[in-house]
Amino acid sequence: MLKNEKSNTKKLTDTFKVLTSNINKGGTGKTAFLYNFAYYLSEKGFKVLVIDTDDSKNLTNLYEDKFEDNFEEIKTENTVMALFNSDLEKVVEPLKLTENIDLIAGDKKLENFKKILVSKINREKILVSWLSDNYDELLENYDYILIDSENSQDDIVVNTLLASDLVIGVAESSDNSVYAINDLQQFISQLDKAFNVDIQYKIIGNKIDTREKSSKDLISALEEVEGIKENYLGYIPKKTAFQSSNTIYEAPRKSNNLDTIIHINKLFKSIKEILDKA
Ligand SMILES: Nc1ncnc2c1ncn2[C@@H]1O[C@H](COP(=O)(O)OP(=O)(O)OP(=O)(O)O)[C@@H](O)[C@H]1O
Ligand SMILES: [Mg+2]
Repeated sequence: MLKNEKSNTKKLTDTFKVLTSNINKGGTGKTAFLYNFAYYLSEKGFKVLVIDTDDSKNLTNLYEDKFEDNFEEIKTENTVMALFNSDLEKVVEPLKLTENIDLIAGDKKLENFKKILVSKINREKILVSWLSDNYDELLENYDYILIDSENSQDDIVVNTLLASDLVIGVAESSDNSVYAINDLQQFISQLDKAFNVDIQYKIIGNKIDTREKSSKDLISALEEVEGIKENYLGYIPKKTAFQSSNTIYEAPRKSNNLDTIIHINKLFKSIKEILDKA
């Protein structure tokens, strides 16, 4: 169950939408995308619940660096562990970080919990059930639920994909990035068949430097390869400003950062529009 204090300001939409950032490849920018997208939505006045399902807790650590003082009170019962360990019927109380951003923090214990999860019936649908069990409360409090996931195809990732209105596959330029995109597409189509669902997904590029060959190659693949181009939305440029616990929006107002903000605003707007319709 979910425990949530009523916020002073009202949410803007009459429903909530769920987005997961995923691809089965490490370090592509899944977390960086989600962190910046959450900020983008929150600045537009939307209420955002961020859930960190990666047991390496990178997203939680970013927020912890940024909002040190709010983090003292995090207890296991309020992390993603409580959400997945449905046996315990615990009440999850998201951490209020800003007026518009709440966090269900990541938890290292989730790694061991996966071994227990394997033997559970309906283990792939714990998150789906949690969303429906807490539907009214979530509806009252949030416009968007953004889930960071890890580079894996384990039960936790399956949970996040099945619970999503939209999955964003984040690809970075490297030899096997197209392979990783195909892998995500195949995995989603397997889940569609196995669970009789139709998971929506889109692909974005990340860490793109248009002067580099590897970036040019990735963009060509994203724009031209049949089966990929139909789902390609755009890219996030490679900028050192993404390597900090501030979002790009809070980075020093250098002219190249402003260009990046204009560029990713366009991308984020299109992601939001697709998510809203999903
Ligand atoms: N657009 C970008 N420009 C420059 N650096 C970036 C960009 N996006 C992400 N990074 C950096 O790349 C590294 C990996 O990013 P991130 O942690 O978001 O990837 P991830 O896909 O979530 O990784 P993991 O698979 O470990 O969860 C981080 O150090 C991050 O700061
Ligand atoms: Mg990550």
